[in-house]
Amino acid sequence: MQQIIKSSQPAIDIEKTIRHIKYDKLFLLTDEHTHMHCLPLLAGTPLFSEAKEIVIPADDIHKTIDNLSKVWLQLTQNGATRHSLLVNLGGGMVTDLGGFAAATFKRGIKYINIPTTLLGAVDAAVGGKTGINFGGYKNEIGSFYPSEYVIITTDFFHTLDGRAIRSGYAEMIKHALIHSAKDWEKLLTFSLDEIDYAQLNELLFRSVGIKRAIVEKDPFEKDIRKALNLGHTTAHAFESYAMENGNPIPHGYAVAWGMIVELYLSHRICGFPKEKLLKTVRYIQQHYGAFPISCDNYEALYEITRHDKKNVGNYIYFTLLSEIGNVRIDQTTDKELFFEALDFYRDSVGL
Ligand code: GLY
Repeated sequence: MQQIIKSSQPAIDIEKTIRHIKYDKLFLLTDEHTHMHCLPLLAGTPLFSEAKEIVIPADDIHKTIDNLSKVWLQLTQNGATRHSLLVNLGGGMVTDLGGFAAATFKRGIKYINIPTTLLGAVDAAVGGKTGINFGGYKNEIGSFYPSEYVIITTDFFHTLDGRAIRSGYAEMIKHALIHSAKDWEKLLTFSLDEIDYAQLNELLFRSVGIKRAIVEKDPFEKDIRKALNLGHTTAHAFESYAMENGNPIPHGYAVAWGMIVELYLSHRICGFPKEKLLKTVRYIQQHYGAFPISCDNYEALYEITRHDKKNVGNYIYFTLLSEIGNVRIDQTTDKELFFEALDFYRDSVGL
């Protein structure tokens, strides 16, 4: 099982962790942002000066087969073997692509994730999902291949803007919704305008704990790990649609908007309480604004949704809730109810 290290002295902890692993050559994967803003914060990590650094372009639009191929090539050209170690320093884009490079290079090499964003720390870097976008679809190609360690420090979060914090926070709301009303209430009273980083730190590690416990029970998403897909069927449709139209949206924002749709479906199909639906929707609307869609886009969104990895046959599969902490996996809906949920979404966010 992947080990998660909560670090307040990242340079020291990274050095210690790497020394625990047997390897021949060390590789460090960064993107243009983390190379510039995060790597300098780890100047006290001597092993990094011996590592071969591979830098790729930043942002999810670059989570492509081309960049994956560049990483493979750099590994090959710089003499990486099956016993080499890759350290991914970055957000979800770097840890997903780097994880998949590690999964596939010479049939698999060891790797470590050091997430530099809240979204990466709370979700992408934890749990072993790796992959790239392909053919216009999010995370179309990938594998389950956990890193040996995830080293989480909040030191990098001060380099993030409000949008990046909100993006990660949406996944934290999701974890609370699938876990307990107490966690959910705490998150909905936290101020995203004036961030208390010490409190955020506490909430983050609680949230990582929720995800970790679920992944431990079901690493390959045969059953209860599907709980983590709350909001994601719709979120992936919004993201793919936005990507296709040349206007990519942050993953966490898509999840927040997707949760409006899927909590509505939870209410209609599983009896999720209306006041909890409305309270969550209000928080999301206030902090995340809206992804602009009209009813002219419904068919296209439905078609993308049908393509989702979770689907079998003609139904769209969702993870829904009958209560906070009460997850109903493998729920299906027809087109009409999905469109009704999109209507609810548009009303809620004022479109
Ligand atoms: N992002 C959901 C999961 O890791 O299963």
